[in-house]
Amino acid sequence: MTESTTVSAEKDFVPGPITLLGAPGVGKGTQAKLLMSTYRIPQISTGDILRTNITNGTSLGKAAKSLMDQGQLVDDDIVNAMVRDRLDEPDVICGFILDGYPRTRAQAGYVEILLGANRHQAGNQADRGIDLPLVAINIHVDENVLLRRITGRRTCSNGNHIYNIYSNPPKQKGICDVDGSVLQQRSDDTEQAFEERMNEYRAKTAQVVSYFSNKEELFQNVDGNQSVEQVNAAIVDALHRLRQPKNT
Ligand code: AP5
Repeated sequence: MTESTTVSAEKDFVPGPITLLGAPGVGKGTQAKLLMSTYRIPQISTGDILRTNITNGTSLGKAAKSLMDQGQLVDDDIVNAMVRDRLDEPDVICGFILDGYPRTRAQAGYVEILLGANRHQAGNQADRGIDLPLVAINIHVDENVLLRRITGRRTCSNGNHIYNIYSNPPKQKGICDVDGSVLQQRSDDTEQAFEERMNEYRAKTAQVVSYFSNKEELFQNVDGNQSVEQVNAAIVDALHRLRQPKNT
């Protein structure tokens, strides 16, 4: 297959709802942005929505800030309502990429009910990507690599471009290659907050991985210790496999 045939095949592919699972720093945001560009479906990052609320000084942002700075999870009810509202937007119709959600067993149950209700309302419109079942891609990276990914991460002011001072530095120190904005470091990208984020991951989010891994036909592990491009290729392969029509 030539590169242009591959690109056009990817444009025709309907990815449906996807969730990217994995510990802090495994590359969920990096991969979500690549999938967004390939499939023209939106990335829904609960972390980004919360950070936008903090920047805008909303009451939600004020409630979330200290929890996030300490590396703790925000309440399920707050996050579930954010996702519910976001899924009401029309751009999710061919599918979407959940990045950092669901992160607790309660959130996993909630999103499945939300998407199930959506399918029910849609009736026979099974050609709409949003009506496909949620598939989960679990990215795994060795724990000793994660701290360096977290402390080395820098993002541009709108969060659209992600760098790493060790593995993917910008051409000009501290400046985004794409939009020229000054790069920033997240307030929870400290060693101390990282430890707490990992504790929260082990205590709460690992259960979500088990929950989805029990649905073998909708779940795939991906090795995130490879290059960004190799991880992306593995995710694209996984999506094609998971979305293949199953023989009944
Ligand atoms: P959130 O923003 O979701 O953070 P996270 O899950 O901890 O994940 P990160 O954004 O840190 O990492 P990532 O996996 O996206 O990695 P990235 O691609 O950036 O959540 C922050 C906080 O918000 C939470 O602690 C909580 O308080 C709250 N929150 C959010 N969602 C919530 C929810 N559902 N419920 C409750 N609370 C919630 O990559 C990291 C670095 O590695 C970058 O520098 C990148 O360049 C580099 N990199 C990526 N891939 C590779 C590669 N293959 N090789 C080398 N380097 C790589």
